[in-house]
Amino acid sequence: MSALFSPLKLRDTEFPNRVWVSPMCQYMATDGHVGPWHSAHLGALATGAPGMIMVEATGVTPQGRISIGCPSIEDDAHAMSFKPMIDFAHSLNVKMGIQLAHAGRKASTMRPWDDHRMASTQEGGWQAVSSSATAFEGYPIPRELTTDEIKVITEHFATAAARAVKVGFDVIEIHAAHGYLMHQFYSPLMNHRTDEYGGSFENRIRFLLETTQAVRNAIPQTTPLLVRISATDWADNGWNLIDSIELCTQLKSLGVDQVPSVIGPDRCQTKLPSPLRLSHPHRSQHPHSRSRPHHRTRTSRTHHRHRRSRCSLLSACNAPQSTMGTYGFRETQSPN
Ligand SMILES: Cc1cc2nc3c(=O)[nH]c(=O)nc-3n(C[C@H](O)[C@H](O)[C@H](O)COP(=O)(O)O)c2cc1C
Repeated sequence: MSALFSPLKLRDTEFPNRVWVSPMCQYMATDGHVGPWHSAHLGALATGAPGMIMVEATGVTPQGRISIGCPSIEDDAHAMSFKPMIDFAHSLNVKMGIQLAHAGRKASTMRPWDDHRMASTQEGGWQAVSSSATAFEGYPIPRELTTDEIKVITEHFATAAARAVKVGFDVIEIHAAHGYLMHQFYSPLMNHRTDEYGGSFENRIRFLLETTQAVRNAIPQTTPLLVRISATDWADNGWNLIDSIELCTQLKSLGVDQVPSVIGPDRCQTKLPSPLRLSHPHRSQHPHSRSRPHHRTRTSRTHHRHRRSRCSLLSACNAPQSTMGTYGFRETQSPN
């Protein structure tokens, strides 16, 4: 049997195979609750019998969501909305993970196919927060978090993780990639703080380490914990691979089982090494791309769906995200 289709054990959880579905935003939640769309989406994926499905970025609070259409797991009612999908996946021996997220300064958007980007208060939008009061390109200036607020968000991650395990999720992942809140702290390009959460490498990773520790403490020892990071900003003076390796070492010591790594530069103008740039002729079509054409022109949902499937293909051949793979900490992770 090939390694891909052989079982994998992380802590007490055995995955029937190593084909895992990456988290994919759907923008189809209602007030943070998942419903029929997600039943169909996740259910269809489950019928393919992957070893695990990682549910999309899910806000630990309503303000942690990326868009007004993203799910959240802010309370038990929101957690329960995932239960039918979890039960269905389990009936097919498919494990379910959830990616716990806070979008920080990239929050409070409309859905990608809406005709404008930012959600107003009337549309359900909110004031975004970040490590520093500097905006993501084209977005409003976020409010800088106080140290007390940082600690509260850490608690939100921990309670959300406990809630997720209670409702039946098998794996917890902290979303620390793609320019979202955790990345906004560890990247020197986005973090301009002068307190204990900014400046030195140790200070910039403090929020992620404290959150990881709190989440690890909040879930059973038997539950695998993953942290998804952006392995490099691919920019001068940005976060780099050496930083990531040091971070991984520290995450491992806190009980993290895997660090799925992507390369999600926060800025789309980032200069990729030229062989990789060749694979990006349509970079602006990625749903997380800054210069999203659908934000300017998309009105047809059908057209968007079509584009979304193309985005998956583009992402699949997107060298920055694909070539880095996963830092596996456990021997069983090695594909031999
Ligand atoms: C429509 C769509 C939505 C995505 N949503 C998320 C997400 O919620 N969280 C995340 O970490 N990555 C997200 N991604 C990135 C994917 O998880 C994945 O990393 C990317 O498609 C590359 O595929 P690979 O990991 O199989 O190489 C999304 C990608 C697509 C195409």
